[in-house]
Amino acid sequence: MKNIRKVVIPVAGWGTRSLPASKNIPKEMLPIYNKPVIQYVVEEAIHSGIEDVIFVTNRDKSVIEDHFDYNLQLEGVLERAGKLDKLKMVRDVAEMVNIMSVRQKKQLGLGHAVLCAKELVRDEPFAIMVGDDLMFGGVPGIKQLIDVAMAEKMPVIGVMEVPQEKVNRYGIIAGEEVSPGVYRVNDMVEKPERDKAPSRMAIVGRYVLTPDIFDYLQKVTPGHGGEIQLTDAMQALARDKGMMAVKMAGIRFDAGDWAEYLTANIYFALQDEELRYELIGYLKNILQFQ
Ligand code: G1P
Repeated sequence: MKNIRKVVIPVAGWGTRSLPASKNIPKEMLPIYNKPVIQYVVEEAIHSGIEDVIFVTNRDKSVIEDHFDYNLQLEGVLERAGKLDKLKMVRDVAEMVNIMSVRQKKQLGLGHAVLCAKELVRDEPFAIMVGDDLMFGGVPGIKQLIDVAMAEKMPVIGVMEVPQEKVNRYGIIAGEEVSPGVYRVNDMVEKPERDKAPSRMAIVGRYVLTPDIFDYLQKVTPGHGGEIQLTDAMQALARDKGMMAVKMAGIRFDAGDWAEYLTANIYFALQDEELRYELIGYLKNILQFQ
């Protein structure tokens, strides 16, 4: 399999779970500690050897691309003020990675969003990262999949075990474990009813796929919620050509879930030496008033 150089990051969703905060700010730009959510996702890609990021956007999301571009006016202000550490901080983001983007003109589902990137991905295996899913700790999330995809020469998806009451929020796989934490995928279903799920192994927004997925996405009919589902196209690809799943290591936060979003903020703030003790003090204090 060729090296994985490109990642598709769909960011055209409405972000209704994050309202009202996301009314005029893309949910991907909401901060976790001192960076927007999307920066963590892009950093994970870079630490996994990805060179090109392809955002699938809509008309209200151009601020995401701007975040990864230079801001000469701000840089001038910081330079003249001698705030060189801040200057480095904003320039580093612009120099992080190549950015490309394509518009998803109609919101027809995750599968449709990925299909919009077809002409930019062209004829090479590529990664997909769902912008809401943040993974931390140990080997970068998407790298865990790239390593298995390169070794097995097959598409690979990331999974994690979820409680039975949450299986209806995810794509769920059925598979057999071929080595510790690595599964051969036999089947998958998008957001099954709780009592009909084939397992508790949920797809968690990290994928390494081959370009033949685009043929399947072009053929697939609307599925769960009337949307073009990536899971449905992958089910057909897995059946015809095989697919692996990797039980991902690390902590995952769903940034669209308020409890997990807020926990992620605390998780990162606690890693800042200066902030840590002050924050713990405030937390202890507010807990007394609960
Ligand atoms: C999407 C996928 C689903 C996957 C989930 C992970 O669903 O369709 O298979 O489990 O991402 O976050 P969404 O959360 O966009 O509804």
